[in-house]
Amino acid sequence: MCGIIGYVGAEPAQPRLVAGLQKLEYRGYDSAGVALVDDALSVTKQVGLVADLDLPEDALQTCGIGHTRWSTHGKPTDANAHPHTDCSGRVAVVHNGIVGNYDDLRAELPEHTFRSETDTEVVAHLVEDELERTPDLREAVAAVVDRIEGSYALGVVAAGYDGIVAARRNSPLVVGHGADGNFIASDVTPLLEHTREVSYLEDGDVAHLTRDGISVWHDGTPVDRAVHTIQWDAEAAEKGGYEHYMLKEIHEQPQALRQAVAGRIDPIEERVDLDLSLSRSFLDDLDEIQLVACGTSYHACLYGKQLLETLADVRATVEYASEYTVGSGRDPSRTLVVGVSQSGETADTLRALRMAKRTGIRTLGVTNTVGSTVARECDDALYIQAGPEIGVAATKTFASQVVSLAMFAIDVADVRGDLDPVAGRELLSNLQDLPGAVQQALDRDEEVREVAEAYAGGEAFFFIGRRFANPVALEGALKLKEISYDHAEGFPAGELKHGPLALVTEATPVLAVLTDGARPEETRNNVKEVQSRGAPVIAIASESGHEGDYEVGFGVPDLGLLEPLAANVYLQLFAYYVADSKARPIDRPRNLAKSVTVE
Ligand code: F6R
Repeated sequence: MCGIIGYVGAEPAQPRLVAGLQKLEYRGYDSAGVALVDDALSVTKQVGLVADLDLPEDALQTCGIGHTRWSTHGKPTDANAHPHTDCSGRVAVVHNGIVGNYDDLRAELPEHTFRSETDTEVVAHLVEDELERTPDLREAVAAVVDRIEGSYALGVVAAGYDGIVAARRNSPLVVGHGADGNFIASDVTPLLEHTREVSYLEDGDVAHLTRDGISVWHDGTPVDRAVHTIQWDAEAAEKGGYEHYMLKEIHEQPQALRQAVAGRIDPIEERVDLDLSLSRSFLDDLDEIQLVACGTSYHACLYGKQLLETLADVRATVEYASEYTVGSGRDPSRTLVVGVSQSGETADTLRALRMAKRTGIRTLGVTNTVGSTVARECDDALYIQAGPEIGVAATKTFASQVVSLAMFAIDVADVRGDLDPVAGRELLSNLQDLPGAVQQALDRDEEVREVAEAYAGGEAFFFIGRRFANPVALEGALKLKEISYDHAEGFPAGELKHGPLALVTEATPVLAVLTDGARPEETRNNVKEVQSRGAPVIAIASESGHEGDYEVGFGVPDLGLLEPLAANVYLQLFAYYVADSKARPIDRPRNLAKSVTVE
């Protein structure tokens, strides 16, 4: 996730772009840049914060674009910072999203010299070529976006061309109608000090902004996009109108999940391409995959282990990173340690990875943070591409970690010749349907709030699930305890009767995940056990088997092995609203930190 801003109007653009970028910095902050344009193009970009940009002092150009970056493709370096330019230095592009087919597009431009490792730069070169064919920048950009596979919010300027051209698909972009000029931005946050009148671009729209107006085109035809008046105050706007970052990030999951798979799934060939350097022969010969992580990332590993073992005929084990020791009797040359860490800086996870490396074991880091220590020190890195997560409680990154591990499991199974074509096809299709299923759960936010408020007074909360639903039960309990400070525990559903059932009373709500592939029939028996002790049950079940006798029930659509990820959204919302009803400081729970850099 990155931040985009653009301004064209009567006033110098640079101060507006800089102020706007500072408001967007929560979307990404590893590098920043600005392009100003009149008859010539001038670009300033570098690693670091917007405040550190070495900008010209007397820039008077009245049109420009800016960007603040959260690296997904290419490390945080000056060269990889946006805006990206073409060979002639006339075209500048800022982009949020992923150009999935950039390798193919780049191969079609052999005579162009590329200066960065990003997927975005190819867009500048393609626009350069199109401008040879048409004098109209809007037409040129429209022709280029037709060739892009993946997601994009784009802002494009070119020397000698009037205004900014913007385009979007599966990545947010808003245009602002100001009194002294017009704006583009990733969200309304930076616009509010200039205007409250905005239009939201729709997927496939291409807009042309000049000082005097904004025209929007779709499939080559001019269209009208409604103008909305924003009522939020500035602080609410930074959180996209949500009360907390956590709630915003829960709601960002469909977009994060699209980003996680963008450009990585080939539905025709029914394969994934994760661009990993681990050799095929190494994966083919693997004896064991050890997953190491902490907290929420550990729960993602528990899910990943089951996916690996179900799809690929390989032993997978999970250990808390803080407990990891290199076991005896393992063949280091046939072992892979996968360290899963959102931040990429967790000391316990780094310790485990370093220990494995010292023994000669190859390491793979699964992380959200390009350039993090995990990414740098591991032999290979798989980025989950969820965008920045500000709330201390991890939400969207859990889902993106599991999805990344699911793609890895497909890849490993494919290489080893273990991939059952039907199971592989089903999981690939479920990966693509997951954002829609998550959105369905999010659409019931208000109902979950009512349920959470009704049960918030519980003395303790228990979460149960089997198989793939078990990590989600554990994760649901972790979310609730860390932000509401209530006692919450997750158990494999079958374990309840072996001890924890003694804690169950009428005052302890039980949240049960009964999704497909998680042996829901047996969990239903455990539900009866707790109901007969008077405990109210909030069930999250496959829509097909939804009609149980529960106090509360939510359904998730058919998603095979990924159903628990959609169920998890209800648990996240439940935790959030219980904590909110108790006025807890949700984004900064007591005693906790986002990145735990001590052992
Ligand atoms: C819980 C949470 C933590 C982290 C854990 C590992 O909501 O966020 O449990 O998951 O501290 O952090 P990373 O993934 O950054 O290694």
